[in-house]
Amino acid sequence: MRRLLRFCTSRNISNILKFIQPSVASRVHSPSLFTSFFCRTFSDSGTSMDLSNMRKTYKSDQECFEENQLASLDPIKQFGSWFDQATKCPEVGEANAMCLATATKDGHPSARMVLLKGYSEEGFCFFSNYESRKGSELESNPHACLVFYWEPLNRQIRIEGTVERIPYEKSREYFHSRPKSSQIGAVVSRQSTVIPSRQYLRDKNAELEEKFKDTDVPMPDYWGGYIVKPSLIEFWQGQTNRLHDRIVFLRPKGGETELGDMQHQAEGGWIYQRLSP
Ligand SMILES: Cc1cc2nc3c(=O)[nH]c(=O)nc-3n(C[C@H](O)[C@H](O)[C@H](O)COP(=O)(O)O)c2cc1C
Repeated sequence: MRRLLRFCTSRNISNILKFIQPSVASRVHSPSLFTSFFCRTFSDSGTSMDLSNMRKTYKSDQECFEENQLASLDPIKQFGSWFDQATKCPEVGEANAMCLATATKDGHPSARMVLLKGYSEEGFCFFSNYESRKGSELESNPHACLVFYWEPLNRQIRIEGTVERIPYEKSREYFHSRPKSSQIGAVVSRQSTVIPSRQYLRDKNAELEEKFKDTDVPMPDYWGGYIVKPSLIEFWQGQTNRLHDRIVFLRPKGGETELGDMQHQAEGGWIYQRLSP
């Protein structure tokens, strides 16, 4: 496919058509259609690509997400309802994969995927290396944002909050519930540090497999869990006409009880409102 794209200019479309399945080729009979169907404008150097035509059909207005369709006015329960549906959707590969965004104290952001390992009224839990890039950013700036995107369901959830380490004993319990190879992996990897080669990891892994052959792997003190304590949870449902639904739950800061314009009382100290897409 890469080679195909490199040759993808209107000059040599007839050559390209020879490579593709006859059934596709018969549908792609004009150069301009071919360009938008297959490669959109791909520069000769292969370094820039116009994706302005790339868009997908989401839900129709009949399948919109209105306030009376909330499974609960408690956003954690509402999260649970959407999360359950995502886990039951065979097209969602890893429902608990989420993007975690952190930032340095002076506001330089970074983001990466991690796995949600539990949630409750208290917050959302994941595990990592406390000395990794995310770990040091969270140390100096304990605020984070999580984003789930379940593409087949056209749903996104954004969670913002403060982050704390979970108690040591809880981390240990989870660490030892993992397969031994994963425990060793956590010891081998001083996550986010520069290493000389993959072989370096192989050698260290083999050394530790031997060392802990007959014993438990102690949890390294640079490894453990975090909990994101939410102050905002946004539920987004995509609509084809781009009039997406956005229902946002907020936890008012200490003592604020009065509802603002277009805000509604939710449960568990939360309020909610709708945002323009
Ligand atoms: C689907 C997926 C799940 C991941 N889960 C975790 C995880 O739970 N914990 C973790 O530390 N890294 C996880 N990673 C690796 C991180 O994305 C990242 O590479 C690593 O944590 C180092 O990030 P940092 O240098 O920004 O701290 C996962 C990656 C993917 C693609």
